[in-house]
Amino acid sequence: MTMEKDLQTFTQIFTALRQDEIDNPLAESIEPEELLKQLDLSLGDEPMEDDAFNENLKALVLKTPKTASNRFYNQLFAGRKSRAILGELLAAVLNNSMYTYKVGGPQVCIEKEIIEQICGLVGYDEGSGGTFPTGGSMANFMGLLMARDHFDPDIRDKGMQQTLIAYSSTESHYSMAKNATFAGIGRDNVRYIAANGEGKMRVDALEKQIKADLADGLSPFFVNATAGTTVLGSYDPIQDLADICQHYNLWLHVDGALGSAVMFSQAHKHLLTGIDQADSFSFNAHKMLGVPLSCSMIFARDKQHLYQSFSNDADYLYQGHSDDYNLGKMSLQCGRRNDALKFWTLWKSVGTKGLAEIVDYQFKLSEIAHHYIENNPDYTVYSKSPSVTVCFNYKEFDPKQLCTDLYEQREMMVGYGAQGDTTFVRSVAVNTSNQADDMLEFFKVLEDFCSEKYS
Ligand SMILES: Cc1ncc(COP(=O)(O)O)c(C=O)c1O
Repeated sequence: MTMEKDLQTFTQIFTALRQDEIDNPLAESIEPEELLKQLDLSLGDEPMEDDAFNENLKALVLKTPKTASNRFYNQLFAGRKSRAILGELLAAVLNNSMYTYKVGGPQVCIEKEIIEQICGLVGYDEGSGGTFPTGGSMANFMGLLMARDHFDPDIRDKGMQQTLIAYSSTESHYSMAKNATFAGIGRDNVRYIAANGEGKMRVDALEKQIKADLADGLSPFFVNATAGTTVLGSYDPIQDLADICQHYNLWLHVDGALGSAVMFSQAHKHLLTGIDQADSFSFNAHKMLGVPLSCSMIFARDKQHLYQSFSNDADYLYQGHSDDYNLGKMSLQCGRRNDALKFWTLWKSVGTKGLAEIVDYQFKLSEIAHHYIENNPDYTVYSKSPSVTVCFNYKEFDPKQLCTDLYEQREMMVGYGAQGDTTFVRSVAVNTSNQADDMLEFFKVLEDFCSEKYS
């Protein structure tokens, strides 16, 4: 009966957490040394008695930063989608690994259904495919590896024979640099292309750099476009980049970790125009769709690239069924947790239309925030194109100090970002439990805080 008892404990702790999110929407901000004095996190030889264990666990939960409250604007994820959490809990209980149909059964079919639906939504045809890696960084890594192996299939056996050059904008995610290291490309062989004032990669600057590298005898092979940059939320001009890639025969990967969720929205999917011509793209359902971390996907227009880069024979593992259902042949990992079920439970329950509503609502929250700051001369606005990030400075206040003080004094969790030399506050409008009032309250809290604290 232990599992049943533990589920009761879960419900009790969750109820306490819900109440605490209302009473104290921010966990106390304390230094780790002090936190360790308040919480008993030590592990020892002796078992802990049930009641003490439950109290210990509850204290741990209540002291954890709250990412679902209306004071959390710090990250590209926030909020709580109960149907998705139901799927996550069941995935933990079932504890399948997604490498084979023999072990995953219908869970494998759920993953395939999601991949097929999304491929259809972006205009990929039947030859396309995808998989769920551990996160957006790994999804981008897989895109880079497929591009590398496509450029020179011998690399897989013999290693790098020439200097490959990758292109990405100055605004792109830092996983680009790390992945270039892991893939043997080398960080120095990533060209960071200037972005325009809206944070979008400049196509003219890209082409100029490609020509210069070709003239130097180097081997351009890969362009990383970003659909929803990490700070400004900007969308690179995918169609223009696809044209360049076609002309120079380069692999186009779209890092859509944040922003490819607009594929579900009739109103906003135009931001992805041209994605059907990308060789690969990534998508994090744990960002804009609110599925619990992590829920990431990588898609390839031609799924053979997934097999070519990631499949390996393993007699001990693959013991029956076709490769179509043995998903391990397309993944970087061996054992792989079931990240598909939580997305499927959400999607199944709200339908594709419901996913569109989530995305549209986030843009609406962002619009409300933008409308407020654009019409208030005390604010300077930096996020200029439609996105779910709201970037601004308030009066002359130093954004780093402001965000730190708001956090330390338990007012709000919001972070800062930069474009070039300019640093600003970056607030993220992805929590769909928030109402218009919460967005306005965000600014009220910030303004009241500034007038009390800094006057
Ligand atoms: C544009 C972009 N790409 C990739 C990532 C990495 O995703 P993950 O955190 O799932 O590794 C992020 C994370 O914020 C991102 O903003």
